[in-house]
Amino acid sequence: MTLSLYRRLATHYRGAIEAGTLQPGERMPSLRNLMRLHDVSLSTALQVCRTLESDGWAEARPRSGYFVRRPQRLQMAPMDEPQAGFAPDPARYVGVHARVSDFVARRRAADVKLNLSIARAAPQFYPAEALRAAMTRALRMRPELLSGVPPLQGDPHFRATLAKRAIAAGITLASEDVLVTNGCIEALNLALRAVAHPGDAIAVESPTFYGLLQVLESLGLRALEIPTSPQTGLSIEALELAVQTYGDIKAVVVVPHLQNPLGSVMPDAHKARLVQLCETQGIALIEDDTYSELLDTDRTLRAIKSWDRTGNVMHCASMHKILAPGMRLGWIAAGRWQARIEMLKYTQTRNNEVLSQIGAGEFMATGAYDRHLKRLRAQLRLALRRRDRRRHSTTGCDCG
Ligand SMILES: Cc1ncc(COP(=O)(O)O)c(C=O)c1O
Repeated sequence: MTLSLYRRLATHYRGAIEAGTLQPGERMPSLRNLMRLHDVSLSTALQVCRTLESDGWAEARPRSGYFVRRPQRLQMAPMDEPQAGFAPDPARYVGVHARVSDFVARRRAADVKLNLSIARAAPQFYPAEALRAAMTRALRMRPELLSGVPPLQGDPHFRATLAKRAIAAGITLASEDVLVTNGCIEALNLALRAVAHPGDAIAVESPTFYGLLQVLESLGLRALEIPTSPQTGLSIEALELAVQTYGDIKAVVVVPHLQNPLGSVMPDAHKARLVQLCETQGIALIEDDTYSELLDTDRTLRAIKSWDRTGNVMHCASMHKILAPGMRLGWIAAGRWQARIEMLKYTQTRNNEVLSQIGAGEFMATGAYDRHLKRLRAQLRLALRRRDRRRHSTTGCDCG
């Protein structure tokens, strides 16, 4: 009886610490206060504090009582390869939206130093000054930008620049094949809406980026979790099995390069097999290309869309992490669904403003963009080295 009471109280205080109501360094209620507040004995109050202490949430300071402790940095367990030999659980409604939104809001409110719920670099890593200058120039030369109606698909020069840069990833596009969106998240929303209806099953990587689960839930779609390797990404074998077992899968969403959260990179042979499988099974393939430009490699990265011969692959991308988080620029090249997607975009959010597209387009059309990307990758490489050094010094590990 007493055992469950002190555990229950310890869980209560742990919840307050996790929610940021009790902050690191703050004094815990004294034993006397705990006794009075919860009507418990001294030994129960003591057990509560000792439990929090042994779980790493509080520390005892001589003659001062118990204080909330900064939780220890969690060690990341190495990820195992997934088992692909059995069919994944049947597709289910995701049901994470409220919980995830609550968690993200609490992180924001807690003013944490490093917010891991958002995947972007520090503000100083982005070329804000060059972009500001380009936008000011554009506005000076074309003041009507603010009073006229922008083109629905986006600024033509920006779209032409995106199409030109896509050549390096093996994608052949005309600027009319590109639709500018509000980040990759709008592109994903549109792609899913174009091919699926509430109740349909969508195959997703497991684990996946929480934002995708929020999108699926908000559209009433069901997630079919496909085991995903930390090295090679989505298991094509497991997807084949899922297709045989459950049949009606409307779309697959995949992040081929630097999958979030695993960081995996899909080999070209898997990409080609995935395109072939989706095409033959009539499953729309949605490629989320948010992170390719951040991959520190000399290899040329081929987009999944470069294998697409029938327009079945919808390529969704973003400038949010690589150029300017404040601009919220994304785009989609949706193959055979492009016209439907333009209609959906029109019904949902109409035209995007173009000033930021003009600024980004001007910057990206010069060598300054490649120099920026090179610098960004170098800075991220340094940050990774610093993280590894810190990890080794806290674990005492001297492995490579
Ligand atoms: C894999 C993945 N896709 C899409 C997004 C959303 O992209 P955007 O911020 O461009 O809307 C994120 C953001 O973290 C992401 O990690």
